[in-house]
Amino acid sequence: MKPVNVGLLGMGTVGGGTYNVLQRNAREITRRAGRGIQVVHAAARDLDTGQFSGLDNITLTEDVFEVVNNPDVDIVVELIGGYDLARKLVLQAIENGKHVVTANKALIAVHGNEIFEAAQRKGVTVAFEAAVAGGIPIIKALREGLSANEIEWIAGIINGTGNFILTEMKDKGRDFEDVLKEAQQLGYAEADPSFDIDGIDAAHKLTILASIAFGIPLQFDRVYTEGISHLTLDDVSYAEQLGYRIKHLGITRRTADGIELRVHPTLIPNRRLIANVDGVMNAVLVQGDAVGPTLYYGAGAGAEPTASAVVADLVDVTRSLTTDPENRVPHLAFQPDAMAEMNILPMAEVETACYLRMQASDQPGVMAEVTRILGSLDISIEAMLQKEPTEGQETVQIIMLTHRIREGKMDNAIKQIEQLDTINGSVTRIRMETLS
Ligand code: HSE
Repeated sequence: MKPVNVGLLGMGTVGGGTYNVLQRNAREITRRAGRGIQVVHAAARDLDTGQFSGLDNITLTEDVFEVVNNPDVDIVVELIGGYDLARKLVLQAIENGKHVVTANKALIAVHGNEIFEAAQRKGVTVAFEAAVAGGIPIIKALREGLSANEIEWIAGIINGTGNFILTEMKDKGRDFEDVLKEAQQLGYAEADPSFDIDGIDAAHKLTILASIAFGIPLQFDRVYTEGISHLTLDDVSYAEQLGYRIKHLGITRRTADGIELRVHPTLIPNRRLIANVDGVMNAVLVQGDAVGPTLYYGAGAGAEPTASAVVADLVDVTRSLTTDPENRVPHLAFQPDAMAEMNILPMAEVETACYLRMQASDQPGVMAEVTRILGSLDISIEAMLQKEPTEGQETVQIIMLTHRIREGKMDNAIKQIEQLDTINGSVTRIRMETLS
């Protein structure tokens, strides 16, 4: 059978990886897909660099729209990232009747509802396995493997750069900026690395996971998002001393009152498997009512791990080319007319346990004042740690772990504690989850 023709938008880290995997594993891919999959047209930002010599039988261009409008291209692979241009290209490809494979989580999280509606109308597929957790087939697992279940919650380490930074801080006491630079050099970080460290990238991915887990529209603007740049080496070390590890998690949970959607640093017991996921690796823990907990682990970024997901989508799309569009796996796992509008819980209504760190005057009665405030708001303390004052200082660090409490109440407690004359500066709050 005639090979399927692919147009590549973007020949950077993932584009290069995709081309290499398609070439190297061509025989196995053909055996799986039933026909060959070949790149015939590719767009790169700057063809003068010389890095594209030796790409046989591929038309190269700097004009991305040339690829999208090429009548010989069956599937467009969008790897340029970003919102606006990517949206235009994908909508144009759909309009031209082409299937699309994308690794662009920002695009799907923000414009996915519009894109899937357009694809549905045209009877084409937009596949996005590479958009979440790099090489881990988590979209496939949630959308197909777990389709018997009512999904209860998902918690994931879904940003490799952030996990790499936290791991290096914990293991080697390395400086935040220094590790970030290394992540950029290794090609893990986003073009704008604040997306990684401020949690925006993880929020994009969580938006997608929540949508296919619960059958709700993509709602990126409703995700509570907190990054990792305020974490100190002290926090990392105190968490360890208390038997916990700090991970930057994306968490979504179905509760009686609505859906939680939140990205923030989180203390988790260090005996949990997911607490031991280090470096650029990602892991997603999914709790289904029938299956119980399931854990998916693998490389969350990098050229070939991401290409693994892109090429798997190419195989899937190729296999489904001759199927009736009505009978394909729905983009967001649930039939488009069965999507539900569920309440997204405001953060103030979310319940979590907390780690609190504060700098207190080294004098009698301080602890009593703090515990009085917590007690008056029904906040119960689970553990406490007081560090000796460093030489020449008149303040001490106090660390407290609390039981679960509504975020709104904890906000109130922190505000009152910060107003005490005996407390210096602000209180650091890190949420805690047992993930059991
Ligand atoms: N910057 C992302 C990460 C790349 O570090 O996880 C993969 O989405």
